[in-house]
Amino acid sequence: MRLNQLTLVAALAAAFPLFATAADAPAAPAQKPWLDRSLSADKRAELAVKAMTREEKLRWVFGYFGTSFAPKGTTPPKGAIPFSAGFVPGNPRLGLPDLLETDAGLGVATQATPTPRERTALPSGLATASTWDTQMAYAGGAMIGSEARLSGFNVMLAGGVNLMRDPRNGRNFEYAGEDPLLAGTMVGHAVKGIESNHVISTVKHYALNDQETGRNEHDVRIDKAAARMSDLLAMQLALEQSDAGSVMCSYNRVFGTYACENDYLLNEVLKKDWGFKGYVMSDWGATHSTVQAANNGLDRQSGQEFDKSPYFGGALDEAVKNGYVSEARLDDMATRIVRAMFAKGVVDNPVAQDGKIDFAKDGAVSRATAEEGIVLLKNDNKVLPLSKDVKTIAVIGGHADVGVLSGGGSSQVYPVGGNAVPGLEPKVWPGPVVYYPSSPLRHIQALAPNAKVVYDDGTDPARAARVAAQADVALVFATQWIGEANDATSLALPDNQDTLIDNVAGANPRTVVVLETGGPVAMPWVAKIPAVLEAWYPGTSGGEAIARVLFGAVNPSGHLPATFPVSEQQLPRPTLDGDPKQPEQRFTVDYKEGAAIGYKWFDQKGLTPLFPFGHGLSYTTFSYSGLASQVKDGRLHVRFKVTNTGNVAGKDVPQVYVSPLAAKWEAPKRLAGWDKVALQPGESKEVDVVVEPRILGLFDEKSKTWRIAKGKYKLVLAEDAAGKNATSVTVDLPASTLDVRGRQRK
Ligand code: GLC
Repeated sequence: MRLNQLTLVAALAAAFPLFATAADAPAAPAQKPWLDRSLSADKRAELAVKAMTREEKLRWVFGYFGTSFAPKGTTPPKGAIPFSAGFVPGNPRLGLPDLLETDAGLGVATQATPTPRERTALPSGLATASTWDTQMAYAGGAMIGSEARLSGFNVMLAGGVNLMRDPRNGRNFEYAGEDPLLAGTMVGHAVKGIESNHVISTVKHYALNDQETGRNEHDVRIDKAAARMSDLLAMQLALEQSDAGSVMCSYNRVFGTYACENDYLLNEVLKKDWGFKGYVMSDWGATHSTVQAANNGLDRQSGQEFDKSPYFGGALDEAVKNGYVSEARLDDMATRIVRAMFAKGVVDNPVAQDGKIDFAKDGAVSRATAEEGIVLLKNDNKVLPLSKDVKTIAVIGGHADVGVLSGGGSSQVYPVGGNAVPGLEPKVWPGPVVYYPSSPLRHIQALAPNAKVVYDDGTDPARAARVAAQADVALVFATQWIGEANDATSLALPDNQDTLIDNVAGANPRTVVVLETGGPVAMPWVAKIPAVLEAWYPGTSGGEAIARVLFGAVNPSGHLPATFPVSEQQLPRPTLDGDPKQPEQRFTVDYKEGAAIGYKWFDQKGLTPLFPFGHGLSYTTFSYSGLASQVKDGRLHVRFKVTNTGNVAGKDVPQVYVSPLAAKWEAPKRLAGWDKVALQPGESKEVDVVVEPRILGLFDEKSKTWRIAKGKYKLVLAEDAAGKNATSVTVDLPASTLDVRGRQRK
């Protein structure tokens, strides 16, 4: 090479480490001890990073978008999987693979393209949470993680667990509701399922990214202890139960500093207090600096094309050279990433891109989750289940003749069989609007072969009413599409569906409303409707799941993971902060409710919701007896018997709430535990719920401990947060102090 070429290469090497030449690297060691599987992930990572040049370390901390980025006209690096979320080049010299990243928590997503990957979609995260069944969550995660692997990905950007502080949040459908114990536990099991496929997964969006309006700029203010007992507790529990390889920090600011360069969130809480050994990746477009971000705990810039600058590219190289970021910190960044690769089996189990997916098997997993996640909100005069001998059924609205709705944005999974309703607005981000080709009507007809099933698209309420008037039963499918980067403007169903429902109810007293919504919605017509099902976004096999619940082939057992308010006026912020038309506007969101989210807020304010947290009906009934509590091995046990007092098999979700009779909490009660119990008619089962001790305490930010006050606590066993079927006992607890991870202090 001529001198000026070498100079050019050296200059490029400085500016863009990727261009460093092999001549700079020491010869690869005779053998690669880091590939020795008998060694711990810590040891393997230490050995591998020790063998790296600085350029090779820098390579890991600089992530690319796996798709062309139109605003900058960039194309993804060679090796990225087409229309994928992310790519990080590996290190062939050391035998370390590329990191191939896909979204998200509902299945293998594809960035918008005319030729998307067709994969199996789980129902929404709210549906999985509504099952209250951790094994179901695990199975769903295991399924989508296997499709990620078989599609050639070894990183899955899942684990969304932001709490539902606002039912209008445009990403509620990706998350698990309002309660930190339920959400953290369910998402933790889902992520564990994903990672069982030798795929690194994430927990996201860390932290307090609880609305989409102004998500890139708004600044969250909240009492730190309150954050620790709400949003942060959900993430802490999810990380403990999943051991996720990575955490994705979020777009917003917290306490005035962007989450992805926030020393308190990343270094103090996540890495020091919680002992997180994985790596922090930014969200795509959430990196805002080099030195501050690196020193405050960010380990990897993601989708660098979305950022104003390649902060963790040449600039980081310079910062290390000049000592603004220590060599040790760069080693730590690379070590965390490579350690996760060893720990999750990414290095020892290389992915292939031609895996054969069993879509029938995976569709059945999605259906099982959807069926268990459907919540029977109302069922007066036992309108449901429908008899298969019903003569005429009117199926109205919601494109129920061809499919079921899904939510928009980066989590969008494109269905096998293609979009059942193409061309709906918005066609561009966070669109397109995608309906999965699982037709409720077709499955209804299959379960009632002798019935006359008549479809009306619901666009003309008067015509729909006439159709309903001719039927024995009218099924109105009401939809609410929401998508990332946007919040619902209100809780009202869009597109005049309230009028449609009113009109149909007026024409036929046996009207059932099936909701396919991104979260809680208002129901001004609910008094006139004898039966309401919340099916959420029901996923790949959602039409079949809905039909099977309607006809009783499945006895519904879903329970709400979030409160359904009567109206926005009952919320801490009746009007959402920020202006959707000014996404770059900086504004503050003050979570004055602190940890009192959802039912805790309603209890604190003495408000009555439309449907309470934990609510869900069944086609059978259950009773509770023998409630008792006992402190054993430092844990509070709550024991009771559940009996199926009806005449069909079913599953119940007995919930244990705890209220301090002496101490003062953010709200009168907290969910302290639950179980999911399957019972034949007349069958009883003994249940033993072990209470997560942190739920009994108040977090003290100064001492970083959970303090359980001495005194009496009321334990309420009920079917929902409103105390349905409630029985209670009181227990006397000694004072105790837990460390920041909830462990009894010696
Ligand atoms: C998106 C989302 C994040 C996703 C990432 C990659 O903007 O906030 O959840 O994983 O970018 O698509």
